[in-house]
Amino acid sequence: MSQDQPSAPAAWSGRFSEPVSERVKRYTASIPFDWRLAPFDIQGSLAHAAMLHKVGVLSAQDLTDIRRGLGEILADFETGRFTWNLDDEDIHFNIERALTKKVGDAGKRLHTGRSRNDQVATDVRLWLRDAIDRIQTLLRAARLALLDMAERHADTVMPGFTHLQAAQPVTFGHHLMAWQEMLARDAERLADCRKRVNRLPLGAAALAGTSYPIDREFVARELGFDGVCENSLDAVSDRDFAIEFLAAGALIMTHLSRMSEELVIWMTPRFGFIDLADRFCTGSSIMPQKKNPDVPELMRGKTGRMNGHLIALLTLMKGQPLAYNKDNQEDKEPLFDAADTLVDSLAIFADMMGSHLDATTGERVWHVKVRAERMRQAAVEGFATATDLADYLVKKGLPFREAHEAVARAVRAAEQKGCDLANLPLDALRAFSELIAEDVYAVLTLEGSIQARDHIGGTSPAQVRAAVARARARLG
Ligand code: ARG
Repeated sequence: MSQDQPSAPAAWSGRFSEPVSERVKRYTASIPFDWRLAPFDIQGSLAHAAMLHKVGVLSAQDLTDIRRGLGEILADFETGRFTWNLDDEDIHFNIERALTKKVGDAGKRLHTGRSRNDQVATDVRLWLRDAIDRIQTLLRAARLALLDMAERHADTVMPGFTHLQAAQPVTFGHHLMAWQEMLARDAERLADCRKRVNRLPLGAAALAGTSYPIDREFVARELGFDGVCENSLDAVSDRDFAIEFLAAGALIMTHLSRMSEELVIWMTPRFGFIDLADRFCTGSSIMPQKKNPDVPELMRGKTGRMNGHLIALLTLMKGQPLAYNKDNQEDKEPLFDAADTLVDSLAIFADMMGSHLDATTGERVWHVKVRAERMRQAAVEGFATATDLADYLVKKGLPFREAHEAVARAVRAAEQKGCDLANLPLDALRAFSELIAEDVYAVLTLEGSIQARDHIGGTSPAQVRAAVARARARLG
C-alpha cells in the first residue's frame, strides 16, 4: 500500500475554523500503520451494511453499491494498488473516501449508526483473532517438531542440570518434552484469551449506543463472534483483550528465550551437545573458526521487545477515563509488532527443531544434530548417579542424611582418582558404607538411574514415549 497525493479537507473539518498543522496531522494520523486493518475494516463494514439493510435503514440498491465498492477496494488492497492519504487520518476514513469515490452517496450512508470508536475496536478484535489463529498453527508446528525429536531421543542420556551443574541423568527426550509442555500451556493461554477477543463492540457507536434499530446479534453472527460486548462504554474503551494477548505473547517469547539459551549453551564447543544446521547460524567477520548461533540469540533478545509492548499497553490503559480516548490509537504498533515477532520466531523455531527428507538420498535430516556421546560423557563426569547411590543405601536401611554423607565422601574419592563412581572397586566403595554390595553397580549406571524413574512425569524412556503419545493425542 502506498501514499497518495493530498486530497481534501478532513471529514470532520466543518466544525473547525483552521486546518491542523502538518506536524499535528502527522502526529494524529494512524494510517501509516493502521492500513494493515484494511481487510478487517472491510469485513466489518460489509456486516454492518447487511444489518442496516436488514433492519430497513439502508436500501437494497445502496447495499449492492457498497458491496461492489468494498469488493473492489479489497481487491485493490490485495494487489497493492490501494493508495492511502495522510489527509484522511486513518484506515476508516481512507476506505470511506475511496468507497464514496467509487459508488457515490451509498458510500456516505455506510457510517449510519456507527462511529470510528466501535469500528476500530471491532477491526482490532477481528485482526487479533486472525493473528491468534496464525500463531496457534505455528505453536502446533513447533510442538509437533519437538514431539518427533523427543521420541527419537527417548533413550538418549544427558545430564539434567540444577544451577547449570550436572545433577541427575535424564533423557534428551524428557528435556524436549519439558519444552513441549511450556508451549502447550502457551497454546492454552492463547485459546483462553481468544474467547474474550471474540466479542463484538459494533453497535456501541461513539460511546452510548445508537438510536437506529440495530441488530447486534446479527452482526456478531456474520463476523463469527461468540457474542456482543454487553456495555457500550466498555466496548469502545477497554483494550484488556489486547493486553492479555501481549501477556500470553510475552510468555511465549520468555519460553522461547529459555529454549534458545539452552541451544546456545549446548552448542558452545565446551558443551558440544548439539550442532545447529548452518542456515540458523552465521560466521564472524574476523574469526574464521566461528559458527555463531545467531538465530537463538536473537530470539532470546526479541523477548525484550515483547515485554516492552506489554508494558506499553498496560501503561496506555492505566488511568484512562471512560469511554474512548485517542490514547487507544497507540495500541496498534505494539500489537502488530508483537504478532509479527511471534509469527517469525515460532516459524523459525519450528523449522530449527524440525527435519526434512533429503531430496537425493530420501533420508530424514534433522536440523538439530545431537551428539549423544558428548551428552553421555558429561553425565558420567558430573557424578550424575550420586543420588541413586544414596537412594540405594536408604533402601538398605541407612537414614537418608547418613547416606548423603557417605556418598559425598565417595564422590570426593572418585574425584581425586579422576574416575566415575561406577569405576570405584567394591572394596573402595565399601569403605564408605558396609551396606554396599555387588548389586550397587546396577544403580550406578546411567541407564539404571533413568529406568528407575518410571512414573508419570519421570524420565524413563518408557515414560517419555508415553508422554509423547499423550501429547500427540491431545494435538489430534
Ligand atoms: N484511528 C483511531 C484509533 O485508532 C480510530 C478511532 C478514532 N476515533 C476518534 N474519535 N478519534 O483509535
